[in-house]
Amino acid sequence: MSIFQDLRTRDFEQLVVCRDPASGLESVIAVHDTTLGPALGGVRMRSYATPEDAVRDAMNLAQAMTYKSAVAGLDLGGGKSVINAPADSPRRDELLAAHARFIASLGGRYIPGADMGTGAADMDLIARYVPRVSSRRDPSRFTARGVLRALDAASAWAGVPVRRVAVQGLGKVGSHLVELLRARGVDVLVADVDPTRVRGLNAVAADEILAADVDVLCPCAAGGVLTEAVIDRLKARVVVPGANNALAADANADMLAARGIVFVPDFVANAGGVIACEAEVKGSDDEVDAKIDAIGATTGSVLERASRHGTDPVTEARSLAARRLSTHRPYFEPAHHGGTLA
Ligand code: NAI
Repeated sequence: MSIFQDLRTRDFEQLVVCRDPASGLESVIAVHDTTLGPALGGVRMRSYATPEDAVRDAMNLAQAMTYKSAVAGLDLGGGKSVINAPADSPRRDELLAAHARFIASLGGRYIPGADMGTGAADMDLIARYVPRVSSRRDPSRFTARGVLRALDAASAWAGVPVRRVAVQGLGKVGSHLVELLRARGVDVLVADVDPTRVRGLNAVAADEILAADVDVLCPCAAGGVLTEAVIDRLKARVVVPGANNALAADANADMLAARGIVFVPDFVANAGGVIACEAEVKGSDDEVDAKIDAIGATTGSVLERASRHGTDPVTEARSLAARRLSTHRPYFEPAHHGGTLA
C-alpha cells in the first residue's frame, strides 16, 4: 500500500519526514489525530532495517496513542516520532537537537515524550527547543500501576486467581510491576535478555517466559511478541501487556479469544504513562490516581462488551475511542470550544 493510501485508510492528519544533513538526522514525526488535543507521544531512537520501517513504526505507534489517550479520557491526540539511528550514536545530542527543531516547527501539534532509546535527560535537551515536552519525570511507575489495575480487573472478569504471573522484560515498566506484584505476595516469574536485570528473582530463559505455566502473562519488553506461534503455546489464561502493540497482527486478538484467553488491549492497560504525561503538561497531578484507577473499570467494560457482542477486546476498545472522538470538535480548529490544554 502506498503511503498516501495508508494515511487515508487510517485517517492520519500529518506525516513529517525530516532530514538534517549537518547532524546526519533522518527522522519521522507522525501526527495521527488531534481531535482531543495536541498529539502526545514518545520519541523513539533506534536503527531500522529500512527508512520505510521507521515510517511504519512511527505511524503504528502514533495511531495507538490516539486510542490510548481517547480511551483513558485524556485531552490529548495521538502522535509519535522516531529517529532512525542507534540509541548509543556518538552524535546523539546533535540528532536529538535537530529532531527537536523539527518538532518545534509543528507549533505545538506534537508534544514529545520519552520512549525506547530516550529518557528524561533527552527530554530536558529537547525542551531547549520545544515549549511543551513530557516525560521529564519518568512515567514508568505510573504505567506499571495502570497495568496492575488492568490485571486485577481482567483476572476478576476471567475468574482467575492471581497466584503466579510471568513478566517479560525487566526494564523500567517491568521492574516496577514486579515490585508491586511481589509486595502482594504473588509468585513472579521473570525473563530479560540482559541477565543483570533478573538477579535475585525467579528467572527463566528469555525464550521460555511467554509460554510459562502461569495465571497471567505481562509482556513488558518489545511489541509484536504475540505471534500465532506464541499464542498456540500460551498457558496463561489472562494476558495484560505493558508493551505497546503487543499483538503481532490485529487478527491475533481473535485467536486469543478463540483459545479462551482474556486479553487486555495494550493501549488500555498501559495508559498510566500517558496519564502521568498529561498531568505533567497540565502542571497538576490531582487527577492522576483517579484516571489510573479508571483503567480497571475500562478494562472490565471492554471485556464485558466483547463478550456480549461476540467480538474481541481490541475491537471494543477501538470503538470506545471512536465514540469519544466523534463527540469532539477538532482541537486545532480556530473556533475550538477550548480544551484543558488550550
Ligand atoms: P525498557 O527499555 O526500560 O525495558 C525493556 C526491557 O526489556 C529491557 O530490560 C530489555 O533488556 C528487555 N528485553 C528486550 N527484549 C527482550 C526479550 N526478547 N525478552 C526479554 N526481555 C527483553 O523499556 P520500558 O520503558 O520498560 O518499556 C517496556 C515496554 O512498555 C515498551 O514496549 C514500551 O513501548 C512500553 N511502554 C512503556 C511505557 C513507560 O512508561 N516506560 C509506557 C507505555 C508503554
